[in-house]
Amino acid sequence: ADVSVVVVGSCMTDLVSQAPRLPKAGETIHGHKFFIGFGGKGANQCVQAARMGAKTAMVCKVGRDVFGNDYIQNFKNNGISTAYVEQTENAATGAASIIVNDTGENAIVIVAGANMLLGQEELLRAQSAIVNAKVLVCQLEINPDASLQALRMAKENHVKTIFNPAPAIADLHSDFYKASDVFCCNESEAELLTGLSVTSVEDASRVGLELLHRSCGSVIITLGPQGCVVCESTNTAPKHIPTTAVTAADTTGAGDSFIGALAFYMAQYPTMPLEEMARRANLVAAVSVQTVGTQTSFPSQKDLPTELF
Ligand code: RIB
Ligand code: NA
Repeated sequence: ADVSVVVVGSCMTDLVSQAPRLPKAGETIHGHKFFIGFGGKGANQCVQAARMGAKTAMVCKVGRDVFGNDYIQNFKNNGISTAYVEQTENAATGAASIIVNDTGENAIVIVAGANMLLGQEELLRAQSAIVNAKVLVCQLEINPDASLQALRMAKENHVKTIFNPAPAIADLHSDFYKASDVFCCNESEAELLTGLSVTSVEDASRVGLELLHRSCGSVIITLGPQGCVVCESTNTAPKHIPTTAVTAADTTGAGDSFIGALAFYMAQYPTMPLEEMARRANLVAAVSVQTVGTQTSFPSQKDLPTELF
């Protein structure tokens, strides 16, 4: 009952190849390093919130296979409750094939597998954790109906909701906006959702307001090295929150680090202004991009300056 952050979302095994550049269609190129890591946007966000110090639970589905078994151990190693992590015989644990180029950019194909079998029954089993949490976080790597149901369950019980529409779908149901206290996405997701291009802070402000008018509490558009833009229904003007410049080794999961940190701040410091939470979450995510890998690069409380707490 004392879990403060619940994530209803995805787990993926990340199969990562580092290469000088991303290959073209039909092309084979040599990469220089391969590794397997724990990923999936939902799990990544949960791990970052846990490492910041939040009491967390993950609601997800993995396969009854080696990757699934290993993933459950990974949650335990990070102090995340696995009471609502279920295993299925009917699909394989989700997998992500990732290529990272020498400038830290990536291209990803996900096969969601077991993640797609998380549904109403599993949510009902996790209901008490969801409705008693301080913050619920959802994304779009599971069945969208399950994400929406979880968001509604939280919202109806006055649990703060963060929704990350990733990967984005062009025809997102309008209820996703209504069920989101904080609607948080990156530039490309914002473009897909609105049809407007986002190439500057000004564009992000315009797109943020457009999304805000779809009835969410607030909108955050993350902009990589440019930080983010925060739009709140209580404030008329969008606010640009810049961040410190860093050299990127691997930006995979930086958005997840940001959202996990944001969830921690919303749970731990509910009266802190959203702009300040976003400023701090920017700095946490900036640490993650400086090291290769996704969860392996996410900082813990002890690795971060005390001013962030
Ligand atoms: O956001 C990064 C994540 O996206 C990776 O860990 C990969 O699993 C994909 O889901
Ligand atoms: Na990283």
